[in-house]
Amino acid sequence: MTIEYRQITPAEHRAFGTTVERGFGGHYMPDQEQYRLDKLSLAPEMSMCAFDGGEIVGTTGAHPFESAVPGGAIVRNAGVTAVTVATTHRRQGLLTNMMTRLLQQEREKGQPVASLWASESVIYGRFGFGMAIQHEQFRIDTRKAAIKNSPEIPGKIRFVDRDESRKVFPAAWEAAVLANVGVPRRNEVHWDRWLIGLGDTKGEWSKPFLVVYEEDGEPRGYAKYMLKDLNTFGVEAHGLINADDVVHSSPASHAALWKHLLNVDLYDTLSTWRSPSDDSLPWMLADQRQLERKPYDGVWYRLLDIAEALSTRTYLADGSLVLEVQDSFIPEWSGRFELAGGPDGATCVPTTKPADITLPTASLAAIYLGGAKLGDLERAGRVEESTDGSIALADAMFATVKQPWCPLMF
Ligand SMILES: CC(C)(COP(=O)(O)OP(=O)(O)OC[C@H]1O[C@@H](n2cnc3c(N)ncnc32)[C@H](O)[C@@H]1OP(=O)(O)O)[C@@H](O)C(=O)NCCC(=O)NCCS
Repeated sequence: MTIEYRQITPAEHRAFGTTVERGFGGHYMPDQEQYRLDKLSLAPEMSMCAFDGGEIVGTTGAHPFESAVPGGAIVRNAGVTAVTVATTHRRQGLLTNMMTRLLQQEREKGQPVASLWASESVIYGRFGFGMAIQHEQFRIDTRKAAIKNSPEIPGKIRFVDRDESRKVFPAAWEAAVLANVGVPRRNEVHWDRWLIGLGDTKGEWSKPFLVVYEEDGEPRGYAKYMLKDLNTFGVEAHGLINADDVVHSSPASHAALWKHLLNVDLYDTLSTWRSPSDDSLPWMLADQRQLERKPYDGVWYRLLDIAEALSTRTYLADGSLVLEVQDSFIPEWSGRFELAGGPDGATCVPTTKPADITLPTASLAAIYLGGAKLGDLERAGRVEESTDGSIALADAMFATVKQPWCPLMF
């Protein structure tokens, strides 16, 4: 079997969509508008695919995202997406070959990092991705969810319809991009696709309710939620609230949105997912135990250009370290780097000095945004220390005040 690896041509966009949908267990049947947006959303040069006899049998792509790193600098971030291999061709190394090429292609475009959501958590570690942004799933009985503490809320929440949401949500999202590490910037095409998705009702769920939080007329957060009525006989009010989009950019917007969600009477079980792992909701509640929390892996990061990625962020504590980074997937990207950084900035350059710490590139990706601690990885046998105290120093340097967050599934 000879497999060819290349980008798609514009004429192959529909075949690309068909392969992606089939790979995830669906059928690609876009209407004209959806198809137009799909083509704009993932241009041929963002793809890397596998072909068998001219037929697409494997797909990958990367959105040209931008997102903040600790210190607030915005970096280019290849948002890996549409990863599938046809059922007829699985476990024959196609993804491995596509991923090598995709990562090289994205690095050549000058993107220092790549990121993705994994359908299965066992897939991407082998390609040098590390678990960088953890999330939590929340579930709470709203009848027992009394709020005891809250920051002052200077703004207001109001309902908006679909068309207005398309106008005001992007500004709220941009506020979240700037206020958080890890939130990817979204372009107009992303928002148009999001709007189309809003029309879908799923089973017995209501159409989405949309609310925006504004301060002085400026959007600072929003929520989208659906309701499902379980009150079949009118005996007891009972129902589900699925808040699958809760986007905030400040303690006030966070508190306002949560107060709104907990005030949805007649529906008593509220579930959210993609809450930040340091969400302050538990600390707002009178009884923390009422909140069921489920942590899970969220966004995986891959460093494509280590010197660029490490020198772009700032560090909570001053320090300097020599890191021996091992890349078993793309060995020529392995190297020894001297990092010197602090709250005001950093430099990171290749060096021949002896290493303080030796670690796989996936472990460096895991700590890159401050989401994981090197000491934890060391205790798991994933990192080696040659100079006493250097892992503690790395943890002091890489630590962040807030955990990274990515409320966008891509
Ligand atoms: C995930 C997927 C793309 C893997 O493609 P593939 O071509 O079969 O992967 P490869 O043959 O290159 O596998 C490389 C290695 O990963 C392992 N692997 C790949 N997918 C795996 C999975 N889903 N579970 C466990 N191991 C997996 C392989 O066993 C292989 O291990 P080895 O190197 O020890 O032999 C494919 O199974 C698929 O399309 N799945 C459905 C869609 C999906 O989940 N996509 C991912 C979206 S984030």
